[in-house]
Amino acid sequence: MKILGIETSCDETAASVCVDGKILSSALSSQEIHSKFGGVIPELASREHEKTLNLIVDKALKESNLFLKDLDGIAVTQGPGLSGALITGTSFSKGLAAGLNIPILGINHLEAHIFANFLAEPDLEFPFVCLLVSGGHTQLWEIKDFMSYNMLGETRDDAAGEAFDKGARILGLGYPGGPEIEILAKNGNHKSINFPRALMKNNNFEFSFSGLKTALLYYCEKNIKKDIEDIAASYQFAIIDVLVKKLKYAAELTNCKNCVVAGGVAANQFLRQHSKEQITGRKIIYPHPRFCTDNAAMIAYLGEKYLSIGKTSKLDFSILPNMRIV
Ligand code: KG4
Ligand code: ZN
Repeated sequence: MKILGIETSCDETAASVCVDGKILSSALSSQEIHSKFGGVIPELASREHEKTLNLIVDKALKESNLFLKDLDGIAVTQGPGLSGALITGTSFSKGLAAGLNIPILGINHLEAHIFANFLAEPDLEFPFVCLLVSGGHTQLWEIKDFMSYNMLGETRDDAAGEAFDKGARILGLGYPGGPEIEILAKNGNHKSINFPRALMKNNNFEFSFSGLKTALLYYCEKNIKKDIEDIAASYQFAIIDVLVKKLKYAAELTNCKNCVVAGGVAANQFLRQHSKEQITGRKIIYPHPRFCTDNAAMIAYLGEKYLSIGKTSKLDFSILPNMRIV
């Protein structure tokens, strides 16, 4: 099938074409406008999506050497995400699907993040455990099969990506905070400050990062002269140490040979390296870095999987800003 995927849940406007499980194009426009505000401004995000969506879809089609009339279906992010941003993407997609008289399907953005791993590893076998770490979510999943998912635990407060973003703001860095902290941390000693790790008992699959952010704030108030690279490295390590330990417990408990990481934080090189060092005897899989952060290739890919077994949405389906996987 030839599927156009559209993603507008936050601050990336993205379109992609997937044909028979292969990504032919993945066009993306990152909204730079938010960086000066230190976070995404929802109203601006919707307006930017409206401005760029047409161009991005055109680009994705051109790169795949296809025309609108060639498409067999449209997959679009239904949630979770910012209401206005989701409405922009779904309304655009509904118009396109109605005009072309082809099926449309609303996609769960989080489930799509998990399935982005099949783009890097087409032979990835079920079952696997998945650490899903994005700007809004931190969850541990046992993925038994396609459409058979068991949540092991999630964060009680901030998501891991949010901990990076809020930490970066405290340190006076830009948005998104993850890449900013990662760059600084490269030249720092990650063992120089022992920031707190919460809920670290074995087999506890819940996370909590709000105390860590407060600890960073207090540390910075008390130690004005400390090396910022050491702070960034130690803060990053405190987040990643927790993520890797819990992923390891999850793999042991479920006896899964494959460990999969998904979402924006999966782009972090220290996380990749540390997980490979700490979790031995199991395969650790990460998406390609450009498919870790928000993109439409993951939407088109998962969309094709569902559309090819006949799953579709009605043209009047609603957005779900708080959509969950199960
Ligand atoms: O998946 P994503 O693009 O959007 C959501 O669905 O939320 O994730 C964005 C999050 C942001 O919090 C960003 O700071 C974080 O992913 N992120 C990173 C890195 N690149 C993006 N965190 C740590 N290291 C990175 N290299
Ligand atoms: Zn995302």
